[in-house]
Amino acid sequence: MDSAYFGRRYMLSASHRLHSDSLSDEANRVTYGKCNNPHGHGHNYVIEVLVGGLVDLDTGMVINMSTLDEVVQKSVLERFDHTNLNFDPLFLNQVPTTENLCRTVYKVLTGALPAGRLEYVRVEETENNFFQFYGG
Ligand code: NI
Repeated sequence: MDSAYFGRRYMLSASHRLHSDSLSDEANRVTYGKCNNPHGHGHNYVIEVLVGGLVDLDTGMVINMSTLDEVVQKSVLERFDHTNLNFDPLFLNQVPTTENLCRTVYKVLTGALPAGRLEYVRVEETENNFFQFYGG
């Protein structure tokens, strides 16, 4: 049987402030510029999830879309949508850059989906910036 990939996009609105406890206040301002503003700012992220695997003989599908939607809804959107990422326990020890959001979403999802099925998570932060994480 052939394998194939199924990708789906989700919207996630959240705010963050880029600030590293490992850097001085001055180094934070230099490194992150206006993203270090104490009041933070928001993004309408697009989270793209790609799942791979064998096309099921009976259903003709790689994964049921409603199964994926449910997993993403429960483990990612309910957790992060309309929140300040800095306050989530998963970001207490890492700067909520979009690189780290991408890695974190991957880790949360890979634990909630059938083993070995998540290929990558891509996060679009703006029209011009995107990040991808393929796991370990
Ligand atoms: Ni930002």
